[in-house]
Order: sequence, then C-alpha cells, then structure tokens
Amino acid sequence: MSPTRKTAVSIILLLLLVTHLSGSPETPAIQDEGTLLFANYCSACHQVDGSGTEDGPPPLANSPWIKGPKRHLIRIVLDGLHGPIIVNEKLYDLEMPSFGPILSDAQIASILTYARQAFAEPHDDPITAQDVAIYRTASATREGYWTAPELRDAPELP
Ligand code: HEC
Repeated sequence: MSPTRKTAVSIILLLLLVTHLSGSPETPAIQDEGTLLFANYCSACHQVDGSGTEDGPPPLANSPWIKGPKRHLIRIVLDGLHGPIIVNEKLYDLEMPSFGPILSDAQIASILTYARQAFAEPHDDPITAQDVAIYRTASATREGYWTAPELRDAPELP
C-alpha cells in the first residue's frame, strides 16, 4: 500500500472509532443511563421487559404503581416495600429491598424516568434528582419498608 493510501485508511479508521465512541446523538443521555441502571438494579427481579415472574416479584409493565403518582415510586425505591400489595388484580405478599443506601438521587431519577417511559404510557414529566432528594430528606429517620396503605396516606411533598 502507498503511504498516501495508508494515511487515508488510518483517517477513515480513526473517524469510525470517534463516531462509535460518541454514540448516537438522538438518544438522550438520561434514557441510556436509566436503561443501564434498570438492567443492573431492577431487572433481576422485575425482568428486562418489566413482566415480573409467575410466583415472584410483580410486573412493572402496566402496573398501576408505575402509572401512578411519582411520590409512590420514589418512596418504594428509596425505602423498600412490604406486602401485601395488589398489582393487576393479583395479590403479592413479598418484600422489595431499599435502594436509597446504594443509589444516588440522580440514579434513582434516571431509573424511574426510564421505567415510566418503558412500562406506562409515555410521560413528559420526568422524575428529577431534586424530586428524589426531597423524599430522601423526609425519609431520613424512617425505619422499615413501606406498605401499600402507608404509601396511599403519605402526602405529596412540595
Ligand atoms: C430483590 C428483588 C427486587 C429488586 C432488585 C427490585 N424489586 Fe421492585 N419489587 C420487588 C417485590 C418482591 C415487589 C412486591 C413487594 C410486595 O409484595 O409488597 C416489588 C414491587 C415494586 C413496585 C410496586 C409494584 C409494581 O409491580 O408496580 C415497583 C414500582 C418496583 N418494585 C420498582 C422497582 C425498581 C424501579 C427497581 C430497581 C431500582 C426494583 N423494583 C428492584 C422485588 C424487587
């Protein structure tokens, strides 16, 4: 190969590498992060497609909790959940651990924004790190997982 050709080939390879590393410009970063974090922290129990398992964790797909107010979702992920709970007409009496101690406000916000987009009707109301921070502060002295009746009674915070 001639030196000019060699240079041309190197430049093309370099361009391909740069395009690959910079990713697709159309995908919002928050969604990528949410997808990845959901796969790492939630899908082992709820499955990648949010369908849950037959006798194990309930589905997130079309769950009234996923479609419902963000305060419930934030509290469940921050502090954990304790049955009984009804999801899509089925009763579950299990436990979900708390993620507040291991995930940051921003990480919880990305996961929940992704989960609502993936498993409920599209929402243009993202859950932000500020939203999560408000509930984290309020839960600082809380002990024990939430129950469904407690969640329903707990107020929305400003
Ligand atoms: C170790 C297993 C496990 C992991 C990991 C887990 N969950 Fe859960 N989750 C459960 C169980 C079990 C329940 C139902 C608890 C009950 O019976 O009250 C539940 C309930 C829920 C609910 C309310 C019920 C429903 O189906 O809509 C939501 C929302 C939820 N989880 C979201 C998440 C998100 C988001 C993550 C990742 C941060 C996550 N879960 C990680 C086990 C898990």
